[in-house]
Amino acid sequence: MDNNKIIIFDTTLRDGEQSPGASMNTEEKIQIALQLDRLGVDVMEAGFAAASAGDFDAINQIAKEVDYIRVCSLARAVDKDIKAAGEAVANARNKRIHTFIATSPIHMEYKLKMTPDEVIKRAVHAVEYAKSFVDDVEFSCEDAGRTEINFMKEIVDAVIKAGATTINLPDTVGYRLPSELYDMIKQMYKFIDGRAVISVHNHNDLGLATANSLACIQAGARQVECTINGLGERAGNAALEEIVMAIKTRQDIFAPLYTNIVCKEIYPSSRLVASITGIEPQPNKAIVGKNAFAHESGIHQDGMLKHAKTYEIISAEDIGLEKNSLVLGKHSGRHAFKDRLSSLGYDLEASEIDKAFEKFKDLADRKKDIFDDDLRALVADEIIKIHKAYEIVTLSTNGCNKGHASASLTIRHNDELISDSALGNGTVDALFKTIDRISGIHGNLKDYHVNAVSQGKDALAKVVVKVQFDGDNAVIGHGLDLDTMLATAKAYVGALNSHILMKKQINK
Ligand code: KIV
Ligand code: ZN
Repeated sequence: MDNNKIIIFDTTLRDGEQSPGASMNTEEKIQIALQLDRLGVDVMEAGFAAASAGDFDAINQIAKEVDYIRVCSLARAVDKDIKAAGEAVANARNKRIHTFIATSPIHMEYKLKMTPDEVIKRAVHAVEYAKSFVDDVEFSCEDAGRTEINFMKEIVDAVIKAGATTINLPDTVGYRLPSELYDMIKQMYKFIDGRAVISVHNHNDLGLATANSLACIQAGARQVECTINGLGERAGNAALEEIVMAIKTRQDIFAPLYTNIVCKEIYPSSRLVASITGIEPQPNKAIVGKNAFAHESGIHQDGMLKHAKTYEIISAEDIGLEKNSLVLGKHSGRHAFKDRLSSLGYDLEASEIDKAFEKFKDLADRKKDIFDDDLRALVADEIIKIHKAYEIVTLSTNGCNKGHASASLTIRHNDELISDSALGNGTVDALFKTIDRISGIHGNLKDYHVNAVSQGKDALAKVVVKVQFDGDNAVIGHGLDLDTMLATAKAYVGALNSHILMKKQINK
């Protein structure tokens, strides 16, 4: 093993999906998995196989879709979880089971209600059982940040002897400071003495996840667990883009350490995850936030014009963000379109290119300047689509400042055209009520966002909705159109389609 390489373990599809409201369907997970492959992550935690039939199915399909990337499933230290994980990753060329048990006094006493000896026994059995499915087994001491160090050594020694090849020491509750984790990893590095790779997994409850991960790397950790846009439980996980760009930008400190990440894929990955989950990074988020490369003050702009390095330590192009590049227009041909898509990292099949090109031409007829962000949104929203149980055919709305607004819709469902209309307290309400009437499924709107993709009055509207149908788990839907109401209707119908697909997966 190359001791200078930092293994990037991405857990966007597992811990990231645990972000409130970030649940994804199988098709969406596959799209993210393919993007993570382009990004060059080393290990992808594709889910928690025993959590649901949908999770199992997604891991199983991802394992078949990707080539060399290592596909991993999480499993509690219980046989049924490990069996599900082993079966879910079975088809991957490179596979791993990641099993864990809590090791801090508070977790062992109150959550597990187990003695430390029982925890060790369970952990050893879990690793041995996981080894019957795969060679590569990662073991995590959940809440390692609050685990007593001598006990941590005892359990780590036992699981390494049982065959664990990676030892993950998470700061599960995001409590520790960089100097404390540095000391912890240093001690464990000495103790493990090369018998397993040390991994870290830091949560961001105190806003320290990236700083903590970097301190752990300096102390000897060689795998970092992280997510795109820092998604994850509560305040999230360490952000992949921050760790990778810190190592790259500060080679004066980190050399000869390196990662295999293709940095130009960072921005496309961030956009795809934001678009699928509907969770936008905060505008001032490091590396991928909307303002990360914006220079507002006159003094800064003046400095930038004289020399970009006066106020910029990373250039936008390094992460694949070509600022407002004007791409194609109405007269662009299929060949130029295909070239542009592939330079943006989309490797689509011929039938998908045909579909995308049709959408592009339609958009170019209505919008003069088409930017890279428009193309990304178009591909994400129009091509990467799940089976459409319902599809909008026509829409008309009437808003008014007195009395009720109204909406009329025709929707295709199973080759049948259904038309209906409804009144509402505002156009959006009327729209959603009409769709509920047509489908017979009642949706409860939990969240609604509209963003302009790129710029100008004729910018595409990107709508993201979060809807709970018939009291089930909330799902996300996306809609893209020059017309905001049409984008809104598309988003709501997209959520409905996602809900129907998830129900099918659960009942499989
Ligand atoms: O935060 C945590 O401890 C985890 C483990 C399951 C690795 O997510
Ligand atoms: Zn976690």
